[in-house]
Amino acid sequence: MTSEIPLLTERPLWQALVEHQAKLAHVQLRDLFAADPRRAEHFSLEAVGLFCDYSKHRLTAHTLGLLISLAEELALPQQIAAMFRGEKINTTEGRAVLHTALRAPRTDSLWLDGEDIIPPVHQVLDRMANFARRVREGEWLGYTGRRIKAVVNIGIGGSDLGPVMAYEALKAYSDRQIEFRFISNIDGTDFYETTRDLDPAETLFIISSKTFTTLETMTNAASARAWCLAQLGDPAAVRQHFVAVSTNRAEVTKFGIDTENQFGFWDWVGGRYSLDSAIGLATMIAIGPDHFQDMLQGFHAMDRHFLHAPLNRNLPALLGLIGFWYSSFWNCQTVAVLPYDQYLKRFPAYLQQLTMESNGKRVTKAGVPVNYETGPIFWGEPGTNGQHSFYQLLHQGTKLVPCDFIGFCDPINPRGDHHDLLMANCFAQTEALAFGKTPEEAQAEGIPAHLIPHRTFPGNRPSTTILAPKLTPETLGKLVALYEHLVFTQGVMWGINSFDQWGVELGKVLAMRIIPELKAPQEPTLHHDSSTNNLIRRYRQGRLG
Ligand code: F6P
Repeated sequence: MTSEIPLLTERPLWQALVEHQAKLAHVQLRDLFAADPRRAEHFSLEAVGLFCDYSKHRLTAHTLGLLISLAEELALPQQIAAMFRGEKINTTEGRAVLHTALRAPRTDSLWLDGEDIIPPVHQVLDRMANFARRVREGEWLGYTGRRIKAVVNIGIGGSDLGPVMAYEALKAYSDRQIEFRFISNIDGTDFYETTRDLDPAETLFIISSKTFTTLETMTNAASARAWCLAQLGDPAAVRQHFVAVSTNRAEVTKFGIDTENQFGFWDWVGGRYSLDSAIGLATMIAIGPDHFQDMLQGFHAMDRHFLHAPLNRNLPALLGLIGFWYSSFWNCQTVAVLPYDQYLKRFPAYLQQLTMESNGKRVTKAGVPVNYETGPIFWGEPGTNGQHSFYQLLHQGTKLVPCDFIGFCDPINPRGDHHDLLMANCFAQTEALAFGKTPEEAQAEGIPAHLIPHRTFPGNRPSTTILAPKLTPETLGKLVALYEHLVFTQGVMWGINSFDQWGVELGKVLAMRIIPELKAPQEPTLHHDSSTNNLIRRYRQGRLG
């Protein structure tokens, strides 16, 4: 290495963490709790109304001290400030990373390349609010004069997962007179099943795409236009039934969508960070501009906390460091996200793009291959459903899977004792994972000797519990911003660029080469490897033959 910056793994603090982990590997959470009766208090934090317990983790105050020292050495606070200031920290694309500006109050200002970007953010929000109000109040009519009864968002990745997740999460706050649907997959089934019972005269399509060139979205958008015009006939109907959200005005216009019906955003908003830009239009129509504003305030509260709180009281930074601890020093490959709230059923899927597209990187910002693990695989399902499928592996399998439990004190749909039962399960799972059941305890319960190994729980399995008062738009904003900043923290620790996604490109390019080979009327000459050639031939035989 010619660089003067020491490799991460050569830093004394990294080495200290390696040695510390080796000692902690033999320590039981039971012992840590026994040694400190106030451990829960010492290892929990309330930030902007989210209470977070991280005491059931395999760490001590010394661990956090080492992690925080390393974060300081890697200039985490300065890098946070640089992001908020609008420095071009997305170095491979030469872009600033300013999703935090999307939720900044109207009174703020932030200068980027000679322009204050806050007024345009609020101009778009105002236009969105006006449009959302017109659709919700039945003022915006379809081509034949009928009220809009269904809003269909067409987008993929960040232009789909954010809107779907937020809509599902906040369904209780949504206008139930309007049906909200989402089409993302290029599989014609997604289009068919989503539109089959809709009436084009009462349907509004939002074509959401940062680039407005994404194959899946543009294919679905073209099908939507054809589907609409097949009934409405007149191409002028597009104006009433299609709006676009994009940074690419030229392509939107080419598609035939009126500039008046375009909602823009900017290249400093990454796709997976765009939920609170105009990409949230479907969400805003669903929950209304006021609730959307509440959500933005939640984001902003967490932003300010992340920017200003010292690292040892900084929730996203602490959770990011704990995740870094498990990935880099315990070789944990995955993180399970387990929301105990049915409305958050799409939250794990949303987090998958946020975390894995951001930190699924193998070289540092300087282009040097890393010699440590980076972003873990995120996955999960709402509790209690997951308990009856994969929790077995979490409790007794051979893998160490840190878990994030998310729950709320106050239910949105109180029904008998459902909520107490739900949350009892949530807390019980964290307890069982951490403390398990020893062979002695199993024996004392009268379990026959031959079953003791099967009915013993090793425990010592780590989890975070996030407990919030209630799932509201504001809380959702805080939760999403918490994970956004957790991802940022980890990216800084690993020295990677969390804001590009070159890894998605190769497959797209290869698909463009294969498309004409699948469609060609005559057997094409194929130049792929033997496996790909064979698959293409079999497909052609099966499809055309
Ligand atoms: O292919 C990955 C990706 O670029 C994501 O980063 C993005 O969210 C998604 O595709 C959709 O992109 P667009 O909004 O430009 O259609």
